[in-house]
Amino acid sequence: MFATVGRLDPEEMRRSHVSIGRPVGNTKVYLLDEDLNPITEAGHTGEICIAGPQLSPGYLNRNEENEKHFISLSATMLGESSDKPIRVYRTGDLAQWRDKSGLLEFIGRADDQVKISGYRVELGDISCCVEKHAKVHACVVKYIPEESSSGYIEAYVVPSNWDSQVTSDELVHWVKTSLPQYMVPSTIYMKRRLPLSHNGKVDKKALQPHNETEQPHHRKEGGHPKNGITKTTRTNDREGNEEVAQWLLSALQGFLPKSEISMNDDMFALGLTSLQAARLVGMIKREYKESITLAQLHQNPTVEQLAKSMNSSDSNSAQFSLERCVEDSKDLGSDLLPPDWHSNGEGRVFLTGATGFLGAHILHGLLAMPSVQKVACLARGKNSVDASTRVKQTLEKYNLWDGRRETTQKIMVLHGDMGDSTLGLGEKQFRWLINWASVVFHVGARVNWCQPYEAHHVPNVLGTRNVIRAAMLGRRKSLHYVSSIDVWTVTGYINKVDRVYEDESLDPHLNALPYDTGYAASQFVAEQIVRRARAGGLPTAIYRPGFIIGHSKSALANEKDYFSRLIMGSIQCGCFPHLPDQFLDYVTVDYVAEAVLHIASSRDNLGRSYHIVPPDRSLSIGHDQKYTMLRDIGYPVKMVDYREWVERIRDSPGNALESMMPLLDEPVHEGLSRLQTSKNTPVYDPTNTTRALQDRPDIKYVALDATLLKQFIENWEKREVFTSCPSL
Ligand SMILES: NC(=O)c1ccc[n+]([C@@H]2O[C@H](COP(=O)([O-])OP(=O)(O)OC[C@H]3O[C@@H](n4cnc5c(N)ncnc54)[C@H](OP(=O)(O)O)[C@@H]3O)[C@@H](O)[C@H]2O)c1
Repeated sequence: MFATVGRLDPEEMRRSHVSIGRPVGNTKVYLLDEDLNPITEAGHTGEICIAGPQLSPGYLNRNEENEKHFISLSATMLGESSDKPIRVYRTGDLAQWRDKSGLLEFIGRADDQVKISGYRVELGDISCCVEKHAKVHACVVKYIPEESSSGYIEAYVVPSNWDSQVTSDELVHWVKTSLPQYMVPSTIYMKRRLPLSHNGKVDKKALQPHNETEQPHHRKEGGHPKNGITKTTRTNDREGNEEVAQWLLSALQGFLPKSEISMNDDMFALGLTSLQAARLVGMIKREYKESITLAQLHQNPTVEQLAKSMNSSDSNSAQFSLERCVEDSKDLGSDLLPPDWHSNGEGRVFLTGATGFLGAHILHGLLAMPSVQKVACLARGKNSVDASTRVKQTLEKYNLWDGRRETTQKIMVLHGDMGDSTLGLGEKQFRWLINWASVVFHVGARVNWCQPYEAHHVPNVLGTRNVIRAAMLGRRKSLHYVSSIDVWTVTGYINKVDRVYEDESLDPHLNALPYDTGYAASQFVAEQIVRRARAGGLPTAIYRPGFIIGHSKSALANEKDYFSRLIMGSIQCGCFPHLPDQFLDYVTVDYVAEAVLHIASSRDNLGRSYHIVPPDRSLSIGHDQKYTMLRDIGYPVKMVDYREWVERIRDSPGNALESMMPLLDEPVHEGLSRLQTSKNTPVYDPTNTTRALQDRPDIKYVALDATLLKQFIENWEKREVFTSCPSL
């Protein structure tokens, strides 16, 4: 019986690893990782699982075996379109995809997994690595357990050419370039051939280090160390590295009698324990009347290095390397990080807020990335069709819909609502989503500066909690969360804080919440929840944009936001409010979307927060400057006292700011309205953002100026959302 078939032509035969081919006929082969997630990328080891019409109903009367080997998996998880679960047979064989062509390369048996020094090791990964060496024909690896240590690895190698064979040192070096130290074989034996069992598989039990016709190929060049070592009595005068080295080899042999020790073996990798190391230090002291430190031993772990270090003038100075500590502290293995959502086989994005102003621009940016395969957009609507239409219409509204098939086919609209615990998708689709997505971008929120906290609670607080749930459940993935500088609320005015830092705590600013908008309070609470999830292990980056204004090139803006209404409403009532010391830190929507997407592209940027604001407060546009700009472009507004301005709006029926009266008028602190309490705006320190964007000088902050403001107004007029005299 067979499940895969491949062509064995001379070209294939020349390869280090002959493929076991592709699935035959209607057979389906999935490579599954330990969590039974499919592996699609080349170079990653997974278990071969077979499905298809030819699958056996199971072993006769062997229920336990059947339960272990025959399992049913969700079709969507396996990347299939069917609604029904797929029954697969777990073969226990490990393999990798060679490339995108669907050819499989056999790695070994799943039960060939051992634990060495606390690490789980697939022996097949080691033999596979050795076999990739051009001078190796075949390799089999054995694990030899030992009571006193965690055991060691032996490799049996059949060289491609017996007469000009690769040396063990070369092979050790070769393995070290791809695998960690604990996977490097302790001993390598060269064999003319490997013993086979009656069914044609390598008979590991019959593999012995020596036989009559072959000598083991030790890593020590020039003979068996046990036979070559004589203990020399030494005086304080050293007679050169070689003599010290011989003495060390002999001493080590006493500790590690089963190892073939060579000059370049790492004594710790061979199993020297800390107790033995301490004893060795003591022996060296007795022998040479000189102290070496344990750190020196670790820094010079081979006989050659140690002998050299003992003979050098600064023999007992083990240098503590700060640089090494800095480098090592960055070294979290990539398998411990969430998936790099740009990598091959990933590129599946889950996005909220695509029918909103910023969300549409982030969606546009994602669609333009070649690494992005699909963007699943959560959108509200009367039904699925309506939800899809709304996403399309939003892109069209901001000139972001290019209609090209390559782009539009990347969009997948999920009809739902963030307020629901399964995002309105139902349990089944929710389960699929959390196992499908490579990354989550949470951009959706209710943004209303007049409605109270209560109105924002469900979409912003519960909604964020539900999106966190989607990010945390299922496969591991990172969350990119768009918050707002409004989380700092009106701390500048209430707490006299003049600068806030991206990664500082929000707690000290809590007392300012009652004097700000309900939206700001909801964003404060939502971000606190995100921070708790981050502290609990969710890989997250938090982005806090300043006030987002229209696109710096198309000049298309959100006509419903406060900035647009301020400009339109002030023109309509002929005056502009005097609001000194207030900075909304305007940022164009294209800058925000590009900055967020670039920062989100690197896993190194996770775990921090980012102020997406003008890089310098001096570049931020204050109220007086907007007033001057308006006059410069031909709107003769007058600067008036704040209260007078509010009254003029009240007296101007149909004014663009009419619906924002609660924000402008309701007193919340010492007679000041919510808009007024945002005075003494602190500086939102953007150090993290500046650092994360330094490799992309093309992502530029563009300040609002009179030309851009004029274009915004012209576009509002063109789209008939603005007329300078509303009552006419
Ligand atoms: N605009 C700014 O100046 C600014 C500044 C700083 C931070 N931010 C943040 O940036 C994000 C986007 O802001 P924006 O200006 O683009 O807002 P927006 O235009 O009002 O868009 C909000 C998006 O959230 C969606 N949404 C709201 N409630 C939802 C729910 N229950 N379920 C599913 N989706 C829901 C909206 O969907 P519908 O279309 O169905 O309503 C819309 O797609 C927000 O998190 C906001 O806090 C904005």
